[in-house]
Amino acid sequence: MSRKGMSLQPVTIALGANLGERRATLEAALNALRALPGFEVGAVSRWHETEPVGGPPEQPRYLNGVLLGRTSLSAHELLRALQAIELCFGRERSVPNGPRTLDLDLIHFGELRCVEAGLELPHPRSEERLFVLEPLLELAPERILPLSGQTVAARVAQLRASATPRGAGALIACSSPQAAQPVLAQWRAQGLRIGFVPTMGALHEGHLALVRRARQNADRVVVSIFVNPLQFDDPRDLERYPRDFSNDTRLLESAGASLAFTGTLEQFFPPAQGGVRRIDPGPCAQGLEGALRPGHFEGVATIVERLFEIVEPHEATFGQKDFQQTLVVRDLARRRGAPRICVAPTVREQEGLAMSSRNVFLKPDERRRALAIHASLRGAHALYASGVRDAGTLGAFLRGALSKEQLEIQYATVRDPEVWTPEEPKGELANAVALIAVKLGSVRLIDNWVLSSPDGGL
Ligand code: PAJ
Repeated sequence: MSRKGMSLQPVTIALGANLGERRATLEAALNALRALPGFEVGAVSRWHETEPVGGPPEQPRYLNGVLLGRTSLSAHELLRALQAIELCFGRERSVPNGPRTLDLDLIHFGELRCVEAGLELPHPRSEERLFVLEPLLELAPERILPLSGQTVAARVAQLRASATPRGAGALIACSSPQAAQPVLAQWRAQGLRIGFVPTMGALHEGHLALVRRARQNADRVVVSIFVNPLQFDDPRDLERYPRDFSNDTRLLESAGASLAFTGTLEQFFPPAQGGVRRIDPGPCAQGLEGALRPGHFEGVATIVERLFEIVEPHEATFGQKDFQQTLVVRDLARRRGAPRICVAPTVREQEGLAMSSRNVFLKPDERRRALAIHASLRGAHALYASGVRDAGTLGAFLRGALSKEQLEIQYATVRDPEVWTPEEPKGELANAVALIAVKLGSVRLIDNWVLSSPDGGL
């Protein structure tokens, strides 16, 4: 009996094929469903290539996908329609789990629960099967699965973890910190070591190097991608900051991250839980970046504290590129007792320019002139190696080298890397780091070099 006039039921259907022209068959099956009276095809996942599960040996690989639809048909009517479409494509049911030109499985039919011969809902094995859940993850990561009560993302994380005990597996991308929570809880419960790399996205090799570094000490690497408005002192900079979440997640998967999450300011700081809780960035926020960018480090400390609360990592990895930031973050971690902070070396373009998400804004001429930053740091390193330890002399050298390319110098100075001082220390330095911030047109670049280390690293 059809249920015209009744509300449409949301349904989930899994599609699979491992014989013949698999993709063409799946596309044709979708068209048949689009033409089915009383049925609307909604979102459809990509086709995933998967190994067969069960059945006779040496079967070809499957293409699998999932569609979300709505229907005014009854569950039985829909089941019969699916079987009719399977028959049209020459499906034979001679061998259990045998190869098939087309398999259409009804996974969910609204909230309906039923156990009958030939129709069991929700589909009883659907929550054990990554070939159903991974396509569903694309469409509805936060949906609660009716059998396990877990979100799709958490269930996928659990199945992947049991399939590959230490393997990173494919990346789980979550659109909010709330969606990432169950996945993280799952990993914690399994006793996995969690490494964390906070970012603002527009990822480049510098960020990916942090992910690879983090992997060395962790079972799972989590990456946050959030252009944090609290740390931007210039609204124009915030507005034009590059954003590309889907490219970022592709890069992160190839670097071996297991979870990436993003979110809005309200999701990070829900108003119902008191909104933004501002964190004092401590004494290392004074001088240089802190002086030039009022409120910047308070914004960094505020989001990093929140991210640490959400992820609860064992270790968090930051780049030396943002030297003063590493001091602020180390202080923050020390005050809260966790996590361990790891600082990774700055990754540079071949000619020496430190990689930065903002480099895309440099015009060719500006990019060439920006090389003076690296050149002046190398020069100061050579000077230090030759025995010059006086802070004033080293600072003056940096400024002289930069002024040759007519860069707008915001600062070019040295500090003791062990003892932060807002101003340049006077006299000889046993340890020294050179720090530079310049502007080229509207683009602001920063860089640094530890003069007292053989390779400029920490
Ligand atoms: P973002 O500029 O995206 O940088 C994220 C991390 O990547 C930082 O730890 C930064 O130092 C590191 N990084 C950037 N360029 C690098 C390079 N060329 N080589 C090595 N590491 C590099 O820094 C931030 O975001 C934010 O302030 C954040 C910490 C995420 C808080 O919002």
